Amino acid sequence: MRLLVTGGAGFIGSAFVRRRLAATTDEIVVLDKLTYAGNRANLAPCEADATQARRLTFVRGDICDEPLVNSLVAETDAVVNFAAESHVDRSIIDAEAFLRTGVIGVHVLLEAVRRATETGRKVRFVQVSTDEVYGAVHEGSSVETDQMAPRSPYASAKAAGELLVAAYGTTHGTDTVVTRGANTYGPYQHPEKVVPLFITNALDDAPLPLYGDGRQQRDWLFVDDHADAVGFVLDHGRSGEAYNVPGAGLRLNRDLTAAILELLGKPWSLVRSVPDRPGHDLRYCMDGAKLAALGWQPGVGIDQGLADTVAWYSANRDWWQQAKSGDWAAYYEHQYGRRLAESVEA
Ligand code: NAD
Ligand code: DAU
Repeated sequence: MRLLVTGGAGFIGSAFVRRRLAATTDEIVVLDKLTYAGNRANLAPCEADATQARRLTFVRGDICDEPLVNSLVAETDAVVNFAAESHVDRSIIDAEAFLRTGVIGVHVLLEAVRRATETGRKVRFVQVSTDEVYGAVHEGSSVETDQMAPRSPYASAKAAGELLVAAYGTTHGTDTVVTRGANTYGPYQHPEKVVPLFITNALDDAPLPLYGDGRQQRDWLFVDDHADAVGFVLDHGRSGEAYNVPGAGLRLNRDLTAAILELLGKPWSLVRSVPDRPGHDLRYCMDGAKLAALGWQPGVGIDQGLADTVAWYSANRDWWQQAKSGDWAAYYEHQYGRRLAESVEA
């Protein structure tokens, strides 16, 4: 297959590209804008392997760029859309880019697929979405037919993108599938997200800013599992369907933090309780029966995945120090400066 992978230089997209090139004979074009979250170095392992490098093309560009997208979609059998602004806290600071990429960008991709399909070609569209479209789940677990109830600007942009995808399936007969992934962690994740933020801060003996009482709960999915699930849905998903991709370990944020510190041999005194994220979703939890019935389940448990992740960040200081350069200091001060000044013992 020839795949167009948008956002393929980001955290999950690059894992998808690395694993797909290693496991198949597919040819992949990565289209990535290289925002602060995108990093060409995430694809270095593929570029260092001659047989994989021959099947990989990198294009720096925006999914909102219609002529560019049209020309790339004209040469592809499927589009796998990872491109998004992905950090909830940044969407609370300024949501504009979230809407541009998450709604206009998705529309540009869908239009290009529609046009290609109208010329008689088969092009599948995979939208990589999130469990956050369900909103906070106080008890039980979300199933795919539940109503969407997003609560952050990030989640709303993702839900809007999904609605457009569904509309193109219904109205234009576009071949679409959607994945809704759980909280993902692992190597190459930008240190703005809680797992790498807490690992890298702890490695530097810097404070770990735990929001509120830390009793929020997330279901943790190892990045290789998330990437493989997207590939599985691309290959086997039924057109028009959405599939939950649950994690392999529900944890309170406090417990996750304690596990990270234990793996690093660092003290709990590094943890500071800081003023909470506005509109913070207390819990996410999805039912994975639909994807399991199709034949896929996560393989990496949270204990193993977390140990591997801690080991990777410990061994790859250059990678995350680069991500914590440039405008990182300004972002960190904006997001955490006052919070840490007002923090209390956790
Ligand atoms: P990320 O922020 O690490 O990567 C996003 C990538 O998209 C970056 O490489 C960035 O440069 C690129 N990008 C952003 N805007 C673009 C644009 N307009 N045109 C082209 N490229 C653009 O994100 P991630 O954590 O790898 O998430 C990937 C996808 O998975 C996102 O759609 C996200 O909503 C979804 N998702 C993430 C998680 C998670 O826990 N990280 C869980 C479920 C779903
Ligand atoms: O659930 C899937 C979603 O998971 C994805 O769609 C998003 O792209 C991804 O960023 C992630 O969203 P979260 O908001 O759940 O992830 P984050 O790592 O930002 O936060 C995880 C939990 O940790 C959440 O309850 C907030 C808390 N947290 C986070 C940060 C950054 C803290 O307590 N302190 C922090 O500094």
